[in-house]
Amino acid sequence: LITRAFRSQFVIPDFQDFIKDIEEMYWAAKSNTDGKVASYIPQLARASSESWGVSVCTIDGQRFSIGDVNVPFTLQSTSKPLTYAMALETLGPDVVHNYIGTEPSGRNFNELVLDHNMKPHNPMINAGAILVCSLLKTLDKPEMTLAEKFDYVMSFFSRLAGNEVLGFNNAVFLSEREAADRNYALGFYMREHKCYPEKTNLRECMDFYFQCCSMEANCDIMAIMGATLANGGICPITDEKVLRPDSVRNVLSLMHSCGMYDYSGQFAFKVGLPAKSGVSGAMLIVVPNVMGICTWSPPLDPLGNSCRGLQFCEELIKRFNFHKY
Ligand code: DON
Repeated sequence: LITRAFRSQFVIPDFQDFIKDIEEMYWAAKSNTDGKVASYIPQLARASSESWGVSVCTIDGQRFSIGDVNVPFTLQSTSKPLTYAMALETLGPDVVHNYIGTEPSGRNFNELVLDHNMKPHNPMINAGAILVCSLLKTLDKPEMTLAEKFDYVMSFFSRLAGNEVLGFNNAVFLSEREAADRNYALGFYMREHKCYPEKTNLRECMDFYFQCCSMEANCDIMAIMGATLANGGICPITDEKVLRPDSVRNVLSLMHSCGMYDYSGQFAFKVGLPAKSGVSGAMLIVVPNVMGICTWSPPLDPLGNSCRGLQFCEELIKRFNFHKY
């Protein structure tokens, strides 16, 4: 790293100039008052619509953060690419995609719908993520209890994040579980259609899904996870190889086509970067071979994406030539 620094071989050679752009985009989006904080559970409805943070971490480990970057938020759906990555890594893509498709659903994230093979469309929507949880629970180290599996997944996520420690929000977990009629309906619908591996305990699998949604990180931590994805699976902070390159390729491909709810096609067209949003207002954005970015701002647009996060991404693409095409 130091040699590259002396030779000015960093992927962003003039990081100070880059920071100025990030700061300008941050302040421009701060005045955006569009959107509504998610309200399906009281714990999320209490989030401040003022909160706004942006962190970046390059594949060289250069970092910059501005705003509410140390305030914890629950991962919600930004956990979906992470559990999917873990399943690919531990079980391999053939096993995972024997159970789950790779096609955008064209529907809402929690819709009661399977594809024409009666599989969930992809791992970035609730049905697919619930199924990923059942694969992780039932096929990868099946001897582990749910408690052991929770620790195992947390420590995998932490390795993606340069060994930063994630949190867990028990109040969100409990109320997610209380307000989960639709997710249970999806869970049972998939059982009716024999979507799960044998021996799946549906109650445990659903709890595991709610637990993954209720894990906590902050912008700084998530930007490192994004940087690990941007860097072919090697964490730029620890230099640990956490994911195989083929796992990273699969995760980024599906973030690109399915990561932004029913806005994924428009986002892929306008911004052209793999990203995943969650109802807590978090967005994990990857600029492959350059950097990971995390934005967090709770007010969401009608499709469920963070309004300030979207504005930031659109501006990023105007200023830098990061669009894939
Ligand atoms: O599963 C749910 O209903 C919530 N935990 C929402 C997760 C989320 O961010 C929306 N997902 N795609």
